[in-house]
Amino acid sequence: MSDNGLFPIIAQIPKAELHVHIEGTLEPEMMLHKASKNGIALPYKTVDDVRKAYRFSDLQSFLDLYYLGVNSIVDRNDYYDLAMAYFRKASSQNVRRAEVFFDPQAHTRRGIDFSTVINGLHDAAVDAQDRYGISIGLIMSFLRDLPEESAMRTMEEALQYKKWIIGVGLDSKELGNPPEKFANVFKRARNEGFLAVAHAGEEGPAEYVWSSIKLLKVSRIDHGYHILDDDRLSLKVSQERIPLTACPLSALKLNHIVPLSSFPIRNMMERGLVPTVNSDDPAYFGGYINENYMALVAELGLTLDEIVILAKNSVFASFIGYEKKRDLYEEIDTALMELIENERRVS
Ligand code: HPA
Ligand code: ZN
Repeated sequence: MSDNGLFPIIAQIPKAELHVHIEGTLEPEMMLHKASKNGIALPYKTVDDVRKAYRFSDLQSFLDLYYLGVNSIVDRNDYYDLAMAYFRKASSQNVRRAEVFFDPQAHTRRGIDFSTVINGLHDAAVDAQDRYGISIGLIMSFLRDLPEESAMRTMEEALQYKKWIIGVGLDSKELGNPPEKFANVFKRARNEGFLAVAHAGEEGPAEYVWSSIKLLKVSRIDHGYHILDDDRLSLKVSQERIPLTACPLSALKLNHIVPLSSFPIRNMMERGLVPTVNSDDPAYFGGYINENYMALVAELGLTLDEIVILAKNSVFASFIGYEKKRDLYEEIDTALMELIENERRVS
C-alpha cells in the first residue's frame, strides 16, 4: 500500500470533523479505568480483552458493545475527561472545527441526569477551545430505537441548555426505525432553533434519506451511502448541495462496504454530491479522522486534489458562519502552499 507522499499533507491540512459520537471516542484504557473507579462491572479485564471483542458483523452488534462500554462513564468529570481526550486528539490531527454527537438517552436511561452529561461536555468544549483553539459544536442525537415520546422528553430537558447545543440528530438502529417516527420531535426542535441532521442510508434504504430531507428537513445526511441506489435522489441531494458525512472505517468495520476499495467517495464526488470524511466511532473502528483519509489514499488512490476538495467540503458542510468558513478555506490554501514549498526546498 502506497501513500503517494500524501500522509504528511493529510496530517497537516486544516479540516472539520462533522460525524463523531463522543461515546464512540471512549478508548479501552479510559473505559477500564472509569469502570474500576465507578464500580461498574464489564466483561473485560484487560485492554486486549476489549480490543478482541471489537469484531462486528453489523450495526447492531457494534451498538451492543458501544452501549455497554459507555456504562463506565458516570459523573460530570468522566464526561469532561471523555470529551477532552477527543478534543486533544482531534486538535493534534489539525481538526479546526468539530461538530460532535452525544446520545443523552444512552445516559439518562441508566439514571444519569441530563445536566451531568451536558455540563461535563460543555466544560470540556470551553476548555478545549481555549487551550487548542479548536471550534466545537455539540449535536444532541436521539436514539431511534426508542419511542418518539422519549426523544420529545429529552428535547424538553435540553431546552434550558439550548445555547450550548447547535442541533439535533438521529442515530442507533436504523432499519425498522424510519425518520417518519421522529417527525414531531424534529419539527419541535427546528421551531426551537436547532439545526437538524440524521443518520440515513447507512443500513437503511434510499427512502429513509428521502424522508429525512422531506419530513425532518435535515441540513446534512450522516453516512448516506444508499443515496447512490436512487438516481432521482442523487440528483436532488446534489442540486440542493446537502452534504454527506461519510465514515470509511466505520462502513468497513460494520460490513456496510467491503472491501474499502469499493467505498463510493469518488462516485459521490463525480455525481456532484458533497461528501466529507469522518471517523464516527474512532475508538471502535480503528482510527480517527486522519486515519480515515489515509485509508482512502491507500485503498482508492485518493489524490492531493481530492483530499483538498474533501477538506474544503468539510468546511462548507460545517455549521460555522460564513466568515469563519472563509477563514478556514484560506487556512487550507495557506497550509497547502507551505507544504508544497517546503517539499520543493527539501528535494
Ligand atoms: N450508526 C448509528 N448509530 C450510531 C453510530 C452509527 O454509525 N455510531 C454511534 N451510534
Ligand atoms: Zn454515526
